[in-house]
Amino acid sequence: MQEGEEMMRTQVAIIGSGPAGLMLGQLLTLAGIDNVILERKSADYVLGRIRAGVLEQGSVELLQRAGVAGRLHREGLVHHGTDLSFDGDRLRIDFTGLVGRHVTVYGQTEVTRDLMAARTATSVYEGEDVELHDFDGQPWVTWKKDGVTHRLDCDYIAGCDGYHGVSRASIPSEALTTFERVYPFGWLGVLVDKPPVAEELIYAHHERGFALCSQRSPTRSRYYVQVPADEKVESWSDDRFWDELRRRLDPATAEAMQTGASIEKSIAPLRSFVAEPLRFGKLFLAGDAAHIVPPTGAKGLNLAMSDVAMLADALIEFYAERASAGLDNYSAKALSRIWKAERFSWWMTSLLHTFPENGPFGRRIQRAEFDYLSGSVAAQQSLAENYTGLPA
Ligand code: APR
Ligand code: PHB
Repeated sequence: MQEGEEMMRTQVAIIGSGPAGLMLGQLLTLAGIDNVILERKSADYVLGRIRAGVLEQGSVELLQRAGVAGRLHREGLVHHGTDLSFDGDRLRIDFTGLVGRHVTVYGQTEVTRDLMAARTATSVYEGEDVELHDFDGQPWVTWKKDGVTHRLDCDYIAGCDGYHGVSRASIPSEALTTFERVYPFGWLGVLVDKPPVAEELIYAHHERGFALCSQRSPTRSRYYVQVPADEKVESWSDDRFWDELRRRLDPATAEAMQTGASIEKSIAPLRSFVAEPLRFGKLFLAGDAAHIVPPTGAKGLNLAMSDVAMLADALIEFYAERASAGLDNYSAKALSRIWKAERFSWWMTSLLHTFPENGPFGRRIQRAEFDYLSGSVAAQQSLAENYTGLPA
């Protein structure tokens, strides 16, 4: 270390202040385990990101355990089912009736805000050039802020820095196996201050492409349409978006939908991705740093929550009993749940999007899948069980 450099020590260094890093930090802090979060962006930037908004019951229970569910219980919208639409034909999946479970609609941005507000331990925002060192031995992390280099020594590093983060990229490539599917399309999303068109979500398949009617509150809606992967958001005026969305919905829904000026509009690519294993020495990966799901099953945030619940429990066990069994099992245990969510997200994506490269045969298979679902309680139960969340 040179003059002008600062040194700190903690038990767990957490890279990334998204929902995964914040939740892990909160669970560790509640258990008396010292942790520091290092985030590349500003807090305002992190809170400005619009992401999905469907919480499994297990995620709600975790937010309760973390002591941050007050506003969620007041403002979250409990949904007992969801609607599917295929070329205008509707099917309601009754989660509560089929599997006795439900989901709660509450924006990921709000989850992040609540976790940030609850945080009492140190968070460093706008930390530049975060680097991970010696994580196969005695780990430490460095970053720069205001021209000063900082060093944080730690027992463990939690890589919660998303798909583009530094943590996974720091692991020697020969130590990781990655699995990936990139879909030839993205979702163009619009946020609008108008009441949702329906009480529940509508996932719609149409020859022109997938569409989703979602919501954030009784007065704020979120809508999506499938667009080609190389589409530019600038080519989509609000009017073009609403026209395209209406064409993909059944006539009654298209008629009832209230439109207005968008308050956010962006395109998200669709990808399935898993890195294995989730551990390299003293470094653990969790959340989007380890895996990506296409948003169709609303699994991204929920998977991040279940990863960090498992990782927190393993770290708590380690510090309480100096037992490393939980840490040793973390990767296999988390991956088993991750791959099931990958399968479900891939399945829902395959059912509902248009894949021109699959031709007329592919469309008939999709139609048959929808008809099977419509007529089979077993198939509906499978959807409901996966959508509301498989057990951890
Ligand atoms: N150094 C420090 N922080 C970084 C770095 C870096 N090199 N790279 C990325 N980060 C930060 C990002 O700025 C972001 O705030 O890590 C955070 C990662 O947060 P998310 O991307 O939200 O990932 P995660 O917490 O795993 O949450 C998963 O987010 O992307 C959605 O669909 C996904 O809902 C899921 C959830
Ligand atoms: C959303 O509201 O943004 C949303 C909801 C359900 C999904 C994906 C996104 O499957």
